[in-house]
Amino acid sequence: MERFLTLEKVNKSYAMGQERLHVLKDVSFGVEKGEYLTILGPSGSGKSTLMNIIGCMDTLDSGTYELDGEAVQEYGDNELTLLRNRKIGFIFQKYHLIPQYTALQNVIMPLLLRGLSRSEAICEAEESIRLVGLWDRITHRPNELSGGQQQRVAIARALVTKPALLLADEPTGALDSATGKEILKLFQKLNDTGNTIIMISHDVNVAQSSRRILTISDGRLEE
Ligand SMILES: Nc1ncnc2c1ncn2[C@@H]1O[C@H](COP(=O)(O)OP(=O)(O)OP(=O)(O)O)[C@@H](O)[C@H]1O
Ligand SMILES: [Mg+2]
Repeated sequence: MERFLTLEKVNKSYAMGQERLHVLKDVSFGVEKGEYLTILGPSGSGKSTLMNIIGCMDTLDSGTYELDGEAVQEYGDNELTLLRNRKIGFIFQKYHLIPQYTALQNVIMPLLLRGLSRSEAICEAEESIRLVGLWDRITHRPNELSGGQQQRVAIARALVTKPALLLADEPTGALDSATGKEILKLFQKLNDTGNTIIMISHDVNVAQSSRRILTISDGRLEE
C-alpha cells in the first residue's frame, strides 16, 4: 500500500462576531492509494468543512495535511487552486452542470480550461462518457436527462482529467434510492479500476457501500 494523504491534528474554526466557532478538532487520519471510504456524520458535524480542506478549497488553522507528497498546509490560495486542478475531481449533491451545454460540452470544459485542443478534449471526454454508460445521451442537455444521468455526466466531468482523488459530497443525496444505488455501483467500479474515492454522507446505508467508514461528530473523527 502507498500512502496518498495524511491529516495530522487538523483544526479549523470560523470567526463568528467576536467569538470563534471551533469546527474541526484535532482531526487525524490517513488514506492509502486506491482506497474507497466514506466520512459519515450528522448535519452540522463538520463534513463539508473537512471536505473543503481535503479538496484544497480552504486552509487549515493548525495541523498538517500532506496530499500525494505535497505539504498542503504551507500553500496559499493560488497554489491551492493549482493543486486542486491537478489532483482532484469533485462530485456534488446537485450535479452543478452548465444547463445550456450538452453532456459532451459539460465534460470537455475542464480539458479546455487546461489548454487542450478541442479535438483532443472531445476524444478524452467521449471515453469518460462511455465509462459512465451515457454514450447514447451525449448530445442531451441537463434538462433532457434524468437525475441519475445528470450525476453520471458530473462523474464523467470529474473523471476526465484523470484526477488522483475523487471527492464526492452527498453524491446520491438528490436521487431516489434505486438511482442512488446505480451511482454507488459506478463508484465501486471506478474504485475497482484504481480510483481513490472519498465520499461524504449522513446516510449509513450509503456509507456501507464503501470499504471503510470514518464517523465525524461535533468536529471529531473516529474510525
Ligand atoms: N463559513 C462559515 N462560517 C461560520 N460557520 C460555519 C461556516 N461554514 C460552516 N460553519 C459551521 O460549522 C459547522 C459545520 O458545518 P459543515 O457545513 O461542515 O457541516 P456538515 O456536516 O457538512 O452539515 P450538512 O450535513 O448539513 O451539510 C456548522 O455548525 C456550521 O454552522
Ligand atoms: Mg455539508
